[in-house]
Amino acid sequence: MAEIRLENVWKVFGKVVAVKDVSLTIEDGEFLVLLGPSGCGKTTTLRCIAGLERVDGGRIFIGDRDVTELPPGKRGIGMVFQSYAVFPHMRVFDNIAFGLKMQRVPRSEIKRRVQAAAELLHIEDLLQRYPAQLSGGQRQRVAVARAIVLEPEVLLMDEPLSNLDALIRLQVRAELKRLHKQIGSTTVYVTHDQVEALSLGDRIAVMKDGEIVQVDDPTTVYENPADVFVGGFIGNPPMNFLPGEIAAPKKDGFLVLRAAGHEIPLPEEFVPALQDHVGKPVTVGIRAEHIEVVPEPTEGALPAQVLVVEPLGSHLLLTLEVGGETLKVMVDTDLRVEPNAEVWLRFDPAKIRFMDRETGKALLP
Ligand SMILES: Nc1ncnc2c1ncn2[C@@H]1O[C@H](COP(=O)(O)OP(=O)(O)OP(=O)(O)O)[C@@H](O)[C@H]1O
Ligand SMILES: [Mg+2]
Repeated sequence: MAEIRLENVWKVFGKVVAVKDVSLTIEDGEFLVLLGPSGCGKTTTLRCIAGLERVDGGRIFIGDRDVTELPPGKRGIGMVFQSYAVFPHMRVFDNIAFGLKMQRVPRSEIKRRVQAAAELLHIEDLLQRYPAQLSGGQRQRVAVARAIVLEPEVLLMDEPLSNLDALIRLQVRAELKRLHKQIGSTTVYVTHDQVEALSLGDRIAVMKDGEIVQVDDPTTVYENPADVFVGGFIGNPPMNFLPGEIAAPKKDGFLVLRAAGHEIPLPEEFVPALQDHVGKPVTVGIRAEHIEVVPEPTEGALPAQVLVVEPLGSHLLLTLEVGGETLKVMVDTDLRVEPNAEVWLRFDPAKIRFMDRETGKALLP
């Protein structure tokens, strides 16, 4: 198996900079998800790694080999693409066996490896069918089997689940995760679905306008987004943002947050990150599940008005207005609230995140 290393990679199409000075190391055996909105350069980055695009700058390494100038066939990679091209005129067995036949692997070994790949993906009963006789999800699994049967050092997948319905997507997603544990290929997985990214990735690289804005494990990306863009892209609902200001009260060394005309005392651990921002405007980020709704006014609670109540089964999603701003709050289903009700909000101070109001960048300790 092999590590993948991108060093200052650029790809330009005319006036569009699709990949802008991307440097990234994907560890041996790691499952890395490239996540970002449409057009941010995910597919192009993947195609550069695969050798389907020539880079306009920078170098790409797989293991110890500089593959920048190598054609796709010499890079030791397997690929699964969004439009899962399976050969319609071949039975499932022959579709999966195709790459092995090209490599002139002996027949008995082909049989054994196709069988093993099919079992991993639970399609062993479908080997004699033609693709037209399969459901979309089964066809998708054939495409994945065809890539993994080659036991590639590197597996590249571009939105492989995007054509599946929600339920099959969940199933195949879990299968992919299990599969990765079993075969251990260094995997780069492209998606614009943030839930998929959180569920699959050892790490997530978030892209925007051709650049990587954050690379971290899913929990860190969710809890400590590098900027307003990441916080607003990841999570359902996205992170809430409010304008605020940091103030230093006279009597002790702690800081308070002024937001929506109220003051929230902040825990001591925020002092190093925020002391240079006293008196300056910040953007306050808080997740929907870190806001508590209380029916009575209490100290430090922000008054809010309920706009919308959405039952989501396991939770209620409230849309509230606070000092002219709209917030989303996740609460237990046993909370009885009606639209137009007045409520009070308490932020869990340890979960509040601060961004520079001008740059949008997180102010991290
Ligand atoms: N062959 C091409 N010629 C010209 N422009 C291209 C080409 N391929 C991609 N682009 C442009 O490069 C940018 C990045 O495209 P890319 O396909 O990498 O985005 P993406 O992140 O995969 O988006 P999506 O989620 O929609 O698949 C886009 O602005 C796109 O229009
Ligand atoms: Mg794409």
